[in-house]
Amino acid sequence: MPYLKRFIYIVMLIKSLCAVENNFPPLKNDNLLRAARGEPVDRVPVWVMRQAGRYLPEFQEVRKLHDFFTVCRTPELACEVAMQPLRRFDLDASIIFSDILVIPQALGMTVEMHAGVGPVFPEPLQTPSDLAKLTPEGAVGRLTYVGDAITMMRHKLEGRVPLIGFTGAPWTLMGYMIEGGGSKTMSKSKAWLTDFPVDSKRLLGMLTDAIVDYLEMQTKAGAQLLQIFESSAEHLSKEDFLKWAVPYIKEIRDKLVERLQQQSIPLVPLTLFAKGAGHSLKEQATLGYDIIGLDWTVDPVEARKQVGPNITLQGNLDPQDMYKTPEEIRALTTEMVRKFGKQRYIANLGHGITPQTPIVSMEVFVDAVHKAL
Ligand code: CP3
Repeated sequence: MPYLKRFIYIVMLIKSLCAVENNFPPLKNDNLLRAARGEPVDRVPVWVMRQAGRYLPEFQEVRKLHDFFTVCRTPELACEVAMQPLRRFDLDASIIFSDILVIPQALGMTVEMHAGVGPVFPEPLQTPSDLAKLTPEGAVGRLTYVGDAITMMRHKLEGRVPLIGFTGAPWTLMGYMIEGGGSKTMSKSKAWLTDFPVDSKRLLGMLTDAIVDYLEMQTKAGAQLLQIFESSAEHLSKEDFLKWAVPYIKEIRDKLVERLQQQSIPLVPLTLFAKGAGHSLKEQATLGYDIIGLDWTVDPVEARKQVGPNITLQGNLDPQDMYKTPEEIRALTTEMVRKFGKQRYIANLGHGITPQTPIVSMEVFVDAVHKAL
């Protein structure tokens, strides 16, 4: 029996190492990864949150034929839409097409995407007794389609640019699961934090564990950088952000590091994007993340002072600036890049690109980043 165990262990180890290698084509443009590691870059790398999305007519065409989550669950379709922005723009990274809400789905919740509304959970969590309905066992096994899409995408990219994987962070996912969709106030989720602190911790812990499994799986499938979206940090006070978001974000990184170390799999750079948490940059800088994403409310020079020299910053043009004239976009982008500087910087918007953004704005934004320094 011990021999069989050892044999299975060795087979699994070889499998996981092969998965990391996977014979992917060599990387031609590694500026994103070099910026993440603090190494010199040829040019400032740029990508855009939601770069595959509704502002692209070819994305709309795919969506006319397929439901949102069908696109996420079908690796061919997910790769096709993830490739779309790369065909148009001189981007330095790709991001796998998926959504943060695939984790609540894997935990047994129904999530629908309604046109003009956004995500809808027909049966949100109403009381702590609803936690019993969640199915954390084997959750990552229900997300293998994301890993398949990542591996396929690495091949399709032919080494052109690195591939980013991502996840939602626990507080943001908890919010959607309780509110049943987007919310302006997050009043129900905040009520959970005060009325049911123990159950809130249980839910956040359950999400943390699922996220660690999910990021491990994405790394093995070929993701070259991982971004954690704490998009709903903006609803928390600094005190609550430090209490209800930060410990889990830290735990995710610590557990992932340990998990990958045990299997001798190299850790990829990690980005923390906590929207609206510019009040806690110093604290964010202590969590072991390589890159901190900034929204547009944060001044680049001030952010650098807060995080120190050893962290890469990402961001942070206001997505609404993309509705300005090409001349204005170029001027604002150039100014932004110059404020951040060439080292340890990844250009991006301060949040996702919005659906009516003119294509030309993206062209100008990407070009202005590359020409700024
Ligand atoms: O960046 C990319 O190109 C990769 C794809 C991506 C999507 N969602 C596709 C998407 C990523 C990284 C996300 C992350 C995501 N999803 C976040 C975190 C980032 C953020 O914006 O704060 C959040 C909060 C979600 C949840 C979500 N998904 C919402 C609130 C919505 C509706 C609002 C909106 O912008 O439409 C979605 C839908 C969604 N996810 C779309 C896309 C392209 C548009 C829906 C459609 O095609 O019908």
